[in-house]
Amino acid sequence: MAKPSSADGRTRSTVQIFIVVGLCCFFYILGAWQRSGFGKGDSIALQITKSNTECEIVPNLSFDSHHSGEVSKLDEADSKPKVFQPCKAKYTDYTPCQDQRRAMTFPRENMIYRERHCPREEEKLHCLIPAPKGYVTPFPWPKSRDYVPYANAPYKSLTVEKAIQNWIQYEGNVFRFPGGGTQFPQGADKYIDQLASVIPIANGTVRTALDTGCGVASWGAYLWSRNVIAMSFAPRDSHEAQVQFALERGVPAVIGVLGTIKLPYPSRAFDMAHCSRCLIPWGANGENFTINTIILSMN
Ligand SMILES: *[C@@H]1O[C@H](CO)[C@@H](O)[C@H](O)[C@H]1NC(C)=O
Ligand SMILES: *[C@@H]1O[C@H](CO)[C@@H](O)[C@H](O)[C@H]1NC(C)=O
Ligand SMILES: *[C@@H]1O[C@H](CO)[C@@H](O)[C@H](O)[C@H]1NC(C)=O
Repeated sequence: MAKPSSADGRTRSTVQIFIVVGLCCFFYILGAWQRSGFGKGDSIALQITKSNTECEIVPNLSFDSHHSGEVSKLDEADSKPKVFQPCKAKYTDYTPCQDQRRAMTFPRENMIYRERHCPREEEKLHCLIPAPKGYVTPFPWPKSRDYVPYANAPYKSLTVEKAIQNWIQYEGNVFRFPGGGTQFPQGADKYIDQLASVIPIANGTVRTALDTGCGVASWGAYLWSRNVIAMSFAPRDSHEAQVQFALERGVPAVIGVLGTIKLPYPSRAFDMAHCSRCLIPWGANGENFTINTIILSMN
């Protein structure tokens, strides 16, 4: 057994280094190639070309912008930004298309009066809606799920009206949201547990949900931690500003009602729709409300 000479060892380690460096380069290039999607892109392009012959895909797509604002000469010369004055303090909660006085001039049947009715051009306000006095930046999530600064939505009526149902409590300078709702005074989390025993919420089947008649949107707020994003809606009604609380909490919500106008969501936008005493007469109007509600791609 001859001892390998030192020269021999050096050659071998040089070769090893070359191999290692070579492999590194190879995999680097391979990775870069895959990331660029070159190979994949090719097959996708091929598919599109193939399917192009079958469906009528417009061949000459225009990628130019078609709705850029017109820059008039006047604007260029006078490039000062337009300044709006604040509106009067009474407009703090002004929601132009949900104005109570205008609403009352519309028919009550099918909740038409609670739908969006926007001001005519000459009725529009041209001022900035002021924040409520003392408004502060809302708490960051997840604290905002449970607490909203009182000054941001200073309305206590729900704390009295919905006291038994545990929607919202007034605690000095904050509102606390214990997570309760009309149907779930014990809290939304327990309620969602019950739902989850019959609906596969945990395994990714339900990713999006719609909450009808959402109140302060605790249902949606608590679904978030289960990887379900919920859109909640409620009309602007006699309990002040339900949706306003939801928004202050950082939960997606809109003022909305099921009436004669379809909600602005595409079909199958939601995997699940939820109503717990949402006061929607589902069976009425030849089931138009059900049709209206979009929904359901539960496969
Ligand atoms: C594409 O071509 C068709 C037929 O020549 C024409 O009618 C259409 O306006 C074109 N579309 C665009 C975006 O140029
Ligand atoms: C989730 O669970 C439901 C009910 O058990 C089942 O039908 C469905 O296939 C599951 N989905 C996934 C993605 O595992
Ligand atoms: C249901 O909606 C359709 C279309 O909007 C309307 O023509 C019909 O009258 C509605 N049915 C009822 C019972 O309101």
